[in-house]
Amino acid sequence: ESTLGAAAAQSGRYFGTAIAAGKLGDSAYTTIANREFNMITAENEMKINATEPNQNQFNFTAGDRVYNWAVQNGKRVRGHTLAWHSQQPGWMEAMSGAPLRQAMINHINGVMNHYKGKIYAWDVVNEAFDDGNSGARRNSNLQRTGNDWIEVAFRTARAADPAAKLCYNDYNIDNWSWAKTQAVYNMVRDFKARGVPIDCVGLQSHFNNNSPYNSNYRTTISSFAALGVDVQITELDIVGGSATTYANVVNDCLAVPRCTGITVWGVRDSDSWLGANTTALLFDGNGNKKAAYNSVLNALNAA
Ligand code: G3I
Repeated sequence: ESTLGAAAAQSGRYFGTAIAAGKLGDSAYTTIANREFNMITAENEMKINATEPNQNQFNFTAGDRVYNWAVQNGKRVRGHTLAWHSQQPGWMEAMSGAPLRQAMINHINGVMNHYKGKIYAWDVVNEAFDDGNSGARRNSNLQRTGNDWIEVAFRTARAADPAAKLCYNDYNIDNWSWAKTQAVYNMVRDFKARGVPIDCVGLQSHFNNNSPYNSNYRTTISSFAALGVDVQITELDIVGGSATTYANVVNDCLAVPRCTGITVWGVRDSDSWLGANTTALLFDGNGNKKAAYNSVLNALNAA
């Protein structure tokens, strides 16, 4: 196959990208995105500050632009993200305790109801654990509503849209030897044991010098999968754009049946949140395929 999406589909997987609504008028951007990818994540447009800028006043204008572009072009959509400490609107940042807990539940219901039956998988909770060696939860206003906020979010999400897969999504949980990875693993194991609804774990996979790709990545993927959840690589980028590392990531996913798809976090280097000079993606700023692109395509085609 000659595109990433079609190559991934040979093994029943998808290959996705993050799309920014503000770039949908750029035909160089949409041409590549439409040709290569078959799963779409809104880079910012379905986040809390975008979808509920004022409490209980939902706004899906930008989210729908991304959603409609994706579906009109035959692609599926990952929802990102419903409960997160970051990119909260000011009204939510100012809240705490029981009212915040209720606002979180109301937010999940409002957004999931709008997209009911239309989303392949939702990142229900994003980045709830601390970096470093503690294995602790991240201290946030949501965490301070009580340690059960994550499972409440997942139970709310299941009831709101039973058709969507429900994911826990985080960064720095790709290295199996890290405390943060083990902490998330233990949470997912506990959720499965207690019947808290969770279907998938999203490994963001932002690789750089401080958190480089490690050869135990495949162990991380297979270990989560063995708990009975899908694993999705949700926000892949690799600073420096190593073709070898990109191939390793793809091959690690392909080695685990329940690794169901890969999303890169942007189309061209110039679209990356990291800045074009990090050359972290698969296309250069002119839209040319990079060595990393060929490496990914070849790995997918060899599966
Ligand atoms: O839209 C405003 C614009 O009106 C304003 O003029 C401009 C001035 O700064 O800011 C614009 O908003 C920016 C937004 O991206 C849209 O471009 C925000 O400042 C900026 O903070 C925001 O960054 C996003 C970041 O999440 C926020 O946390 C990145 O685009 C996005 O790629 C990044 O994605 C996150 C995932 O959601 C979660 N995992 C990590 C990943 C990378 O940080």
